[in-house]
Amino acid sequence: MFKAIILAAGEGTRMKSKKSKVLHEIAGKPLIYHILNSVKKAGFDEIITVLGRNYNDAKEIVEYFGSKVIKQPHEPGSPYGTGYAAKICMDEISEEDDLLIMYGDTPLIDDKTIENYFNYHKNCANDITVLSAILDDPKDYGRIVREDGEFKEIVEKKNMDPNLFYSNEINSGIYLFKGKAFLDTIVEINDDNPKKEYMLTDTIAIGRGLSYKVDAYISDNHDVVLGVNDREDLYLCECALIARENKKRMISGVMIHNPESTYIDPDAIIEEDVELSGFVKIIGKSIIRSGSMIENSTICNMTIGENCHIINSTCEDSVVEDGVKFGPYSRIRPGSHIASGAKIGNFVEIKNSNFGEGSKAGHLAYIGDADVGRDVNIGCGVVFVNYDGKKKHRTTVGDHAFVGSNVNLVAPVVIEDNAFLAAGSTITKDVSKDALSIERGEQKNIDGWVIRRGLHKEL
Ligand code: UD1
Ligand code: CA
Repeated sequence: MFKAIILAAGEGTRMKSKKSKVLHEIAGKPLIYHILNSVKKAGFDEIITVLGRNYNDAKEIVEYFGSKVIKQPHEPGSPYGTGYAAKICMDEISEEDDLLIMYGDTPLIDDKTIENYFNYHKNCANDITVLSAILDDPKDYGRIVREDGEFKEIVEKKNMDPNLFYSNEINSGIYLFKGKAFLDTIVEINDDNPKKEYMLTDTIAIGRGLSYKVDAYISDNHDVVLGVNDREDLYLCECALIARENKKRMISGVMIHNPESTYIDPDAIIEEDVELSGFVKIIGKSIIRSGSMIENSTICNMTIGENCHIINSTCEDSVVEDGVKFGPYSRIRPGSHIASGAKIGNFVEIKNSNFGEGSKAGHLAYIGDADVGRDVNIGCGVVFVNYDGKKKHRTTVGDHAFVGSNVNLVAPVVIEDNAFLAAGSTITKDVSKDALSIERGEQKNIDGWVIRRGLHKEL
C-alpha cells in the first residue's frame, strides 16, 4: 500500500506562540490543512499523522482528512526528534508498503510534485529518495552531502563542520521509502548527539551503510520545499502560496491589478474578465461572474452576477444578480438577495433581505429583515427598525415605493406598491398603495427669536 506519514508533533518553539505551529494559518487555512489536502489529492491508501502536545487542537482537522492519528508523548524527558516521531509509526508500516514521510510545517507541497517525485523514485528503483532543492540561501535547512555525485548523508546546520565546504542543496524534509528500507533504517537511529534528538535524516547514512539505494530528487520548484520554523517563514510561505494561486487565476482570464494584496480562496469560482483591484479577499466558495469588478473589498461565500461593481465593501453569504453596484463602504450581511441593476451606496447595510430589481439605497441606511420590491427608492438615513428588544420582525416595501430620507420603518409593517413615505416619518402602521404617509411633529417658526436670545451675528 502507498502510505503517508506526516510528522506534526514538534514543539515549534521558534514560532514563539501558544498555538501549535502546524495550526498557524496561511491563506486562511492551517499549515497542516494545506499538507493534508495535497496528500489526500495525491491518492494515498492511508495517511498517518503524528501529533503531540497539539493533539486536542489538531485532531479534528486531521481526522477530517481521514488520517489516522498517532500520539507522540510530550512529557518532560520524553524522547524527541523527527526520527523518534517516525519510529513510533513503525507498527503501521509493512515491508511491502511504499511510504512518504514529510513534516507538518512544509505547506506548499502539491499533489503534482508528489506524483513526479514518486515516479522518479519508482523508475530509479530507489530504496530511499529525498526531495531536495538547490537554494541561493540555504538558511537553516539540513544539507545534502554528496561524494563523487553520490548522495552520502544529510548534515544539519548545527552539526556542520566549519572546515568543510557544503553545497546549497538542501533537504526539504520530504522522503520516499520502500517499507523495508524504512523499517531497517529507523530502528538504527539513536540520540547520540549533544541535543539528544532522534533525527530522521540519519536514515540516509544508515541506509547507505546497509547498501540500500539512496538518492535525492532535486525539485526545480523552490516553493514546494519552503518550511515554516518562525513567523518570517510563515509570511514567506503565505506570499508564495498566494502568488501561486493568483498566477493560476490570471492564466484563466482574471485580471488581478495588485496580486501582492489579493487573496483568492482556491474553492472560489471566478470567470473570465473579472477584474480585482487593490486589497481584495475572496473567501470560501464564492462565485464571481464575468465582467464584474471588485475593488478593495472582502467577499465571503458570495454569488455575484455579471458586470457588478463592488468598491470598498464587505459582503458575505448572499446572492447578487447582474449589474449591481455596491459602495464605497457598503456592507452586505448573510441571507441577502440583491436583484439585478440595484444600487447600494456608501454606508448602507443590508441584512437578511431581498432587495428588488433596480432599487436604490444611496446613502447611510440600514435595511434588515426586509422584502423590498423593484424600483424602490430608499432615502438617506432610512432605518428598518427590525428589533423590538426580544424578536426580529420583517418589513415589506412594495414596487415603486418612495421611502423619504430619515424614515424609520418600525417592523412588522407593510408598505404597498407606489406608496410615498415623507421624509422624517416614523412609520408604525401599514401604508396602502398610492398613499402618502407623513408622520411628523408640526413645524413652528418663531420670528425674531434669535435676536431676542442674543444669538444673532452680524454678516
Ligand atoms: C528538519 C530536518 C532538516 C530539513 C528541514 C526541512 C531533521 C533532523 N531535520 O529540520 O534536515 O532541512 O526539516 O524543513 O529532521 N516533529 C515531530 N516530533 C518531534 C520533532 C519534530 O513530529 O519530536 C515534527 C515537527 O512538528 C515538524 C517536523 O517534525 O513539523 C520538523 O521538525 P523541525 O523541528 O521543524 O525540523 P527542522 O529543524 O526544520
Ligand atoms: Ca521545520
